[in-house]
Amino acid sequence: MYRAIDRILIDRDSIADRVEQLGDMLVADLAPIADAGQLMVVPVMTGSLFFTADLLRQLPLAFRIQPVTMSSYPGKSTTSQGIKEMSPLPDEIEGKTILVIDDILDSGRTLDHLRTEMLEAGAADVRSCVLLRKDVPRAAKVQCHYVGFDIPDAFVVGYGLDYDGLYRNVPDIAVLNEAKL
Ligand code: IMP
Ligand code: MG
Repeated sequence: MYRAIDRILIDRDSIADRVEQLGDMLVADLAPIADAGQLMVVPVMTGSLFFTADLLRQLPLAFRIQPVTMSSYPGKSTTSQGIKEMSPLPDEIEGKTILVIDDILDSGRTLDHLRTEMLEAGAADVRSCVLLRKDVPRAAKVQCHYVGFDIPDAFVVGYGLDYDGLYRNVPDIAVLNEAKL
């Protein structure tokens, strides 16, 4: 059915376990901020769709969810083409602690860009949580507070991540075989 999928890198049970652990960490760190009414969660669409849905259901805290849409791998590209911002920043950022949620940290441009813009818009603090971080030197340089899994430098799909808009619905994280596309 999924011709170009070679092998599963992280299966759905491992994802679920790790999401639960991340949830515990986030609750421990962010509860006082949420109690003070200062927490805003900004998921980066569309890749973080499932991660966001699963993770945020682990957080019994008060916060608003304000997604932004960004893209750096348009269409059939498997290397970053630079950020394309497709929606404006959320309103009412001023004074808030922002938790940015993204699927994967690769070049780090997406997170760097959002962090800079949100601090300029008056955010008190910007923290980030990614499900995956690629093992590339450039990703290691970007500050990221919560990381689900460190993975090798391969193009992956599933659990929200796509190739040309496809495979987001695969329940596991899988490695794409570009030769079979
Ligand atoms: P960065 O700005 O280079 O860190 O790229 C992050 C964005 O690129 C992520 O939010 C993903 O949408 C996309 N991306 C990076 N690597 C992959 C991959 O292996 N598969 C699918 N999307 C990816
Ligand atoms: Mg993305």
